[in-house]
Amino acid sequence: MFPINRPRRLRQNPQIRRMVRENIVTVNDLIYPLFAVPGTSVAKEIISMPGVYQLSVDKIVDEAKEVYDLGIPAIILFGIPETKDVEATGAWHDCGIVQKAATAVKEAVPDLIVIADTCLCEYTTSGHCGYLEVGDLTGRVLNDPTLELLKKTAVSQAKAGADIIAPSGMMDGFVQAIREGLDAAGFENIPILSYAAKYASGYYGPFRDAAESTPQFGDRRTYQMDPGNAREALKEVELDIAEGADMIMVKPALAYMDIIWRVKEITNLPVAAYNVSGEYSMVKAAALNGWIDEKQVTLETLTSFKRAGADLILTYHAKDAARWLQE
Ligand code: PBG
Ligand code: ZN
Repeated sequence: MFPINRPRRLRQNPQIRRMVRENIVTVNDLIYPLFAVPGTSVAKEIISMPGVYQLSVDKIVDEAKEVYDLGIPAIILFGIPETKDVEATGAWHDCGIVQKAATAVKEAVPDLIVIADTCLCEYTTSGHCGYLEVGDLTGRVLNDPTLELLKKTAVSQAKAGADIIAPSGMMDGFVQAIREGLDAAGFENIPILSYAAKYASGYYGPFRDAAESTPQFGDRRTYQMDPGNAREALKEVELDIAEGADMIMVKPALAYMDIIWRVKEITNLPVAAYNVSGEYSMVKAAALNGWIDEKQVTLETLTSFKRAGADLILTYHAKDAARWLQE
């Protein structure tokens, strides 16, 4: 009790604070998302995400080198195909945009880990994450037929050089299907990072500009999770672990810190948090207005993900954070 207890003793200078700090974010925790588009010398800034670009494969390679030189261990690739169709051909074709980008990056920067986002929404005409029943206008994706496409997509991404497969479509059984597909093709050593608890979130808005993956009708609520649910996230995580996931993701991150914490309590697998596009854009917008200190707010947010239990953080701020952490 006071005056014996004075917690401020351990806050009195930077050296003591450094000694007793419980959680820190390091460059090793960061994963940087990149958006690959067809063409050459293309670098098109996404209006709703200042500092983030759609990049052609040659530019992705330049970016990968920069990311590697900053000490960031991994990128995650999304792709915008030349054309979209009902079967999401661009997702699973061996000459698909993510496949091309993965091969080029691995050739130029072999030690940079390439994670492939495995989903169909950038590649379907509907903008949904799988096959729809003919005539469907609500977005009720057909689960089991979609698994076949996801399996094909994952195998072709692994063939192209992807080091980690990250399925994000929230289909039931997608981890098992992809594990089977990878193993049958001789990729039993490729880990699966499952977007296990992914919520139907308004925070994905800017990403959909970047990935040109806005659903043309309906929404994703029949496959992504309801924001009101927490126990259901644990169920999703348990199922994905049983199906063979090597790592688990919670997404979005900021509004779902309780989920990160609860997931961490039930698994010994590495837990990733996706600091999504809307979270990035809000910080950027406020910073560009001079309303907040971008560096302080970003590092504070990233540290708070670690405190909540995240081992890995996917963030559009990865390059900035890597630089700030070096200062
Ligand atoms: C698609 C996908 C989304 C994100 C990653 N993969 C968006 C969505 O479900 O519409 C969101 C990433 C972000 O907002 O930064 N399966
Ligand atoms: Zn999707």
